[in-house]
Amino acid sequence: MPEEIIIVRGNSKLAGTVAVSGAKNSALKLMAASILGQGVSVVHNVPLISDINIMADVIRRLGATVERDGHTLAIDATNVTECETPYELVSKMRASISVLGPLVGRFGRARVAMPGGCQIGARKIDMHMIGLEALGVNFEIDHGFLEATTPNGLHGAHVVLEFPSVGATENMVMASVVAEGATVIENAAREPEIVDLVNMLNAMGARVSGAGSSIIEIEGVPLQSMHPCEHTTVGDRIEAGTFLAGAALVGGPVTVTGIDASFLRMALMKLDAMGCEIEVEGDSITVSRTEPIQAIDIQTLPHPGFPTDLQAQYMLLASLAEGNSVISENVFENRFMFASELVRMGADITIEGHHALVRGVERLQGAPVSSTDLRAGAALVLAGIAAEGETHVHEISHIDRGYEDYVGKLRSLGADVERTVLP
Ligand code: EPZ
Repeated sequence: MPEEIIIVRGNSKLAGTVAVSGAKNSALKLMAASILGQGVSVVHNVPLISDINIMADVIRRLGATVERDGHTLAIDATNVTECETPYELVSKMRASISVLGPLVGRFGRARVAMPGGCQIGARKIDMHMIGLEALGVNFEIDHGFLEATTPNGLHGAHVVLEFPSVGATENMVMASVVAEGATVIENAAREPEIVDLVNMLNAMGARVSGAGSSIIEIEGVPLQSMHPCEHTTVGDRIEAGTFLAGAALVGGPVTVTGIDASFLRMALMKLDAMGCEIEVEGDSITVSRTEPIQAIDIQTLPHPGFPTDLQAQYMLLASLAEGNSVISENVFENRFMFASELVRMGADITIEGHHALVRGVERLQGAPVSSTDLRAGAALVLAGIAAEGETHVHEISHIDRGYEDYVGKLRSLGADVERTVLP
């Protein structure tokens, strides 16, 4: 099959204004949550990316209909049954596991293919299972499928998560909103996408408080009292951070619109420390840089710590900084593959366990490189913009999973990039 790649010519140009799309890591869960609405829910500002198409296929297989009109999805969950979520879809996108909580909530049972790992780590779901077991769910593993049942019904519980897992927090919230009694989740994930999900669930009749803090409290309501709603997805903070990192890389100024700057406090603090000028006005953020990039140290952590999904983009900045930076990846066990691709472009990076020592170099050179995950792929395109010569980025389907019209948006900012199919 002919391969499509992105060709980047290093012109070091990124300036102008770009509107970010709705957050992938919220929209996917909003689609799953619509199962609890038992009717037609409408979700606006949904990004046009392949992961959304896979999630649409997952909930269609469960009996829902999904109609798209531009960035709006109308999801009719009236006829959803708890039939299984097939392996071929879950293996394509592990976020399909997000239907587990709503299915258990609505039907008291579910059959979901166990998600595999991926390039960046094992991506286990033990915390999802432990949390749901506390609510009364029994799990059997049957030939690669997770068989969930609730022999004594779904009841509230006080659960402390071992790690503030985004997915585990979301599945527990979506199951507990219709459990008998109250639930407390301690050490809950605090990501803005969790807040967005809870806002939609509350609009559907749920009673959830504390989202965005590490203690989320849920007062169970009868399933029958849950109803569909209309909701607008928040802006994608990782897409916004990617374009702002591009501005920091080549100077900008780049303005991203449609994003709440409070979602990116740590990422913006690091750009400031690296010598960038940052302006926030309403739902837009502008970044520019005239001084040399300053070296910085970064620890990726659960929100509000530095986001692991911006680690590759900031490693790129560090590779052209004055001095040495240390970047520690504390969320995933294998998210430094990007470094070896950047080294092929002339970066000087040494990996020691979950630390990367990045020694700043004068310049990068264009080279053929391969995306190892969607964020690394996006960062490699940015690297090509700053590099001398031409860069060919392969495996770009990773990028299409999470970035709507990435090449088009970069071209609108003056980048010399194009998609092309190799003969
Ligand atoms: C979500 O993944 C995002 N994906 C990821 O974005 C993001 O990097 C991650 O949160 C952290 O912010 C979606 O929302 C679809 P976790 P998730 O559960 O929910 C381990 C992107 O680029 N863990 O917080 O899977 C896990 O292996 C993607 O858009 C367990 O060990 O993240 C990982 O090392 C990449 N057991 C760490 O915790 C569990 O039961 C964080 O995982 C659950 C998680």
